[in-house]
Amino acid sequence: MCGIIGCAGRKKAQEFLMQGLKKLEYRGYDSAGLAVLNGDELKVVKAEGELNKLAEKLNSRSLEGSLGIGHTRWATHGIPSDENSHPHQDCQERFALVHNGIIENYQELQEDLEAQGHTFSSDTDTEVLAHLIEEIYEKDMISSLQKLKEKTTGSYALAVIDRKNPGKIYALRQDSPLVIGLGEKENYLASDMPALLNVTSEFKILEDGEMAVIDSENVRIISADNQTVKRAIFKADWDAEMVEKKGYEHFMLKEIYEQPIVARRILGEYLDEYQVKIPELNDIWDKDIERIMITACGTAYYAGLVGKHVLAELAHLPVEVEIASELRYQRDFLTENTLVIVVSQSGETADSLAALKKAQAKGCKVLAITNTPGSSIARSSDVVINIMAGPEIAVASTKAYLAMLIAFYLLALKLAELREELSRKKLAVHRRELLRLPEKITATLNRVEKQCQKIADYLKDQQSIFFIGRNLDYSLSLEGALKLKEISYLHAESYPAGELKHGTLALVEEGVPVIAIMTQKELAPKTLSNIKEVTARNGRVIAVVSGGIITSQEDLDEVIEVPLCNGLWAGVLTVLPLQLLAYHTAKILGRSIDKPRNLAKSVTVE
Ligand code: G6P
Repeated sequence: MCGIIGCAGRKKAQEFLMQGLKKLEYRGYDSAGLAVLNGDELKVVKAEGELNKLAEKLNSRSLEGSLGIGHTRWATHGIPSDENSHPHQDCQERFALVHNGIIENYQELQEDLEAQGHTFSSDTDTEVLAHLIEEIYEKDMISSLQKLKEKTTGSYALAVIDRKNPGKIYALRQDSPLVIGLGEKENYLASDMPALLNVTSEFKILEDGEMAVIDSENVRIISADNQTVKRAIFKADWDAEMVEKKGYEHFMLKEIYEQPIVARRILGEYLDEYQVKIPELNDIWDKDIERIMITACGTAYYAGLVGKHVLAELAHLPVEVEIASELRYQRDFLTENTLVIVVSQSGETADSLAALKKAQAKGCKVLAITNTPGSSIARSSDVVINIMAGPEIAVASTKAYLAMLIAFYLLALKLAELREELSRKKLAVHRRELLRLPEKITATLNRVEKQCQKIADYLKDQQSIFFIGRNLDYSLSLEGALKLKEISYLHAESYPAGELKHGTLALVEEGVPVIAIMTQKELAPKTLSNIKEVTARNGRVIAVVSGGIITSQEDLDEVIEVPLCNGLWAGVLTVLPLQLLAYHTAKILGRSIDKPRNLAKSVTVE
């Protein structure tokens, strides 16, 4: 979703803003712009397209001034174009503002403002805010932002600069993330922390309804009821190096290869030979909890589907999984006896946050599985499992998904222990097996990459690719299909293996690839029967199997084998070839791997 950046300092703003926008590109990349103030001179430059288009436009220009705001856009209202890019301005060109989110009542506001004589030059909902500030501004920006809040509905984050009040950035957060970075005689503003890690690791996080005034010396946070807020400093444990490509061609490949380290890190934090350590869980766990509801979006939702199997299997609890955008408007049966697990890499996904709030209103305890401990979802939850994957830059999630699976494994073991569902001996065996996963992840990556490259060369020419699996393997295959479609743009779909014959088999003809996942020993023979239905139609079967699971390769055109491990944990190994198949197919097709078309990394609108 759109990215906001700002700086009030001593250095040249233009360079800082361009660097910050580069780091925020994964939040939106269909247009970009910036506004720089030098005294009372306000310069705005914006361009449709990726950031290099803005750089080209700026090429011959050097904007003087050390205060400015910038924006990278993921279009919601109005096509990507120069006019629709941010910053937007009022009629007098006194203010410039950038915005992330949606103003729901913008049409109504625009009609009123037009009736009052304002002229609009874009199709966005954002422009209305610039004219609204112009209209309501009386003595100062903070009281104007208060009024603006009363007049607007929707969720948004906003940064404004004012020609007549140089030296200050004004910010407002209304359900959409904004963080303030603290520097030496310089302060910053951004949609998320990674954009500022090259200049600071100290942050103040704005809460909903709060406003801020930022200048080079001070940061003032003002609450919704107009009180100055004392906000503690949040220290990020990520650093600037973590957001560099480090010689890899794409962030996605780098993140795929970081997975052994990620697994080791999260296991090291929460597990040793003797116990799973999630102490906060003991505080909220109560014997009356009778079911679990997992909610999330995208890849995090697919991780939740794997979590469901593992939790049900080990903790013996009924588990449901619901997409957050559905749960929030659904008749649900959440009660105080439901533990709700919200899974989110960014911790800022608007639908997931809304589902969390709904659950809390019903009295549920909430556990978050997230990569961002300072995020809205983490701060709103009773217990947080930090997946510690480090910054994930590629839009297609890889290492965060793997770490989410491990978080579920740990949680399932902990709940099995708390509910006394497994003997001490069995728990110890599971713990030992988990501790061995990182080395098996490394072994898998080493083993499968070349083979995936070769298979990708076949996949690249296909119109449709189907994935099948049963139970846990079906959950994994959903993630495999999502990865492939989001970065290669090929049509990919996943089905429970037994369901293919109820319709989709009609699409299987000579050469159509069907990727079959088999990691569950007792279910492999069943999936093999479904594979026969495919080969009988001359489909091409690519099997992804745990070592030793199948005894014959008859009917299989390709077999990608991952090391054998307990079937419950097989997901973290099986997903690796699925990620590599997607990566290499997209690479051969010359796709924009880290920033696939139409997508954004962090979706902070509904
Ligand atoms: C977007 C991203 C996906 C991600 C989903 C949920 O769609 O492109 O990669 O899985 O949001 O994001 P979250 O941060 O909540 O895990």
